Amino acid sequence: MAQLAQRFTRAANLSLQENDAIREAVSIFQPGEISLCGGGKVMAEDEEAKKRNFAEGLPVRDLADGAIAVGQAGGEDGVLVRRGDEFFAVGASCSHYHGELSKGLVVGDTLRCPLHHACFSLRTGEALRAPALDPIPHWHVERIDDRVFVREKLPDLSRKQFCGSTECQKPPASVVIIGGGAAGLGAAEMFRREGYDGPLTMISADDWPPYDRPNLSKDFLAGAAPDEWMRLRLPDYYRDQKIDLLLNARVSVLDIPAKQVHLESGVTYGFEALLIATGSELVRLQIEGATSSQVHYLRTFADARAIVSRAASARRVAVVGASFIGLEVAASLRSLGIAVDVIAPGAQPMERVMGPEVGLMVRELHESHGVVFHMGETVRKIDGSTLTLTGGGRLEADFVVLGVGVRPSVTLAEQAGLTTDRGIVVN
Ligand SMILES: Cc1cc2nc3c(=O)[nH]c(=O)nc-3n(C[C@H](O)[C@H](O)[C@H](O)COP(=O)(O)OP(=O)(O)OC[C@H]3O[C@@H](n4cnc5c(N)ncnc54)[C@H](O)[C@@H]3O)c2cc1C
Ligand code: FES
Repeated sequence: MAQLAQRFTRAANLSLQENDAIREAVSIFQPGEISLCGGGKVMAEDEEAKKRNFAEGLPVRDLADGAIAVGQAGGEDGVLVRRGDEFFAVGASCSHYHGELSKGLVVGDTLRCPLHHACFSLRTGEALRAPALDPIPHWHVERIDDRVFVREKLPDLSRKQFCGSTECQKPPASVVIIGGGAAGLGAAEMFRREGYDGPLTMISADDWPPYDRPNLSKDFLAGAAPDEWMRLRLPDYYRDQKIDLLLNARVSVLDIPAKQVHLESGVTYGFEALLIATGSELVRLQIEGATSSQVHYLRTFADARAIVSRAASARRVAVVGASFIGLEVAASLRSLGIAVDVIAPGAQPMERVMGPEVGLMVRELHESHGVVFHMGETVRKIDGSTLTLTGGGRLEADFVVLGVGVRPSVTLAEQAGLTTDRGIVVN
């Protein structure tokens, strides 16, 4: 829920204070042992505390169970965390987008980033869950009597040796991953991290190596993120990790008995193990008179570049859909000074996900940033730059962005005879 709140407040280009207030208001604690920084157990985090040198030791009594202290470890910003009688020292900054881990959650022996919930092992610094890919530093901690000391930095242990000692652990002769999104990349990364050294092929219909798709509707659309920032990994990474990345390559047939994938281009790849990470595909709307030059969708980097290019000379844009993508597009375009009308069914934006009260709050936030809502209707017809709404009203727009949802991309799996149920059923 906190992630959800972060997302919609960011969508409205709100200040950090507004964002924090809303995140706190809607945060629902997950079950299990959780400590929330900012609560009673946590030390006051101020600039002085950040300068504290952990090497000089910290009184145990200053660190309650589950608390996170900030300070310096070997000249780097770090956090010292207590879990029961154990103490851990890890980096203070999330390896995803530098979220302040001192404001995160301690769950068991993991630390969750407050921004997008990356999860790090307190024992090794390893990035255990998306969206972070890289580990954070970790240090040896020693307790002497009633003080804890942070000692030397420990090596990154996240890359393991493949054991292969039993039949079930025997590595596959080759692995093919269909999909070059975050999931495909995360899987490839984990294969290598777990010590798999065999042939690894990633097949992607995209024209770009795995990129930060969530950013397409946010900083990238708002002009605050250049192309280079969008890559999840630099080109060298694929070479160094021996990941054979095929771009502009769409799998058209999956032949499971033959253990082969056939590309639209006619090329065939064999595999011993296959991972399907085809993500989602756009829901498209048929609108009378809509031409491809007038209507944009936002799913791929190419889509985002097309919108950025149109936005450069646009004064007024209509966005159809008032859920995450629609509102993020609206907020980003507003930040560029473009007038934005949002048209959507339902009484309030995000109502289906958040309910009417939060929906109204979201609407008012966006209105305070200049977005004009036309709720309870949709677009019936597009004639050049004139939109006719189902309620009879008319709007002018240089172009239209449709953000009306996605559905799981399961056609390939269905054709191959795999069981699907709004996704691929797995054991
Ligand atoms: C504009 C935008 C903003 C978003 N913002 C957020 C956010 O703020 N927070 C959040 O949690 N989520 C956000 N999302 C959703 C998030 O991006 C997805 O949940 C995530 O991308 C899913 O990753 P994935 O790898 O499973 O699938 P995808 O990213 O959909 O990747 C699927 C990959 O499979 C490839 N593919 C599909 N079919 C084939 C085929 N037949 N052959 C070969 N390749 C194929 C595609 O080309 C693509 O490379 C956003 C999405 C968009 C579009
Ligand atoms: S900044 Fe930590 S998960 Fe994104």
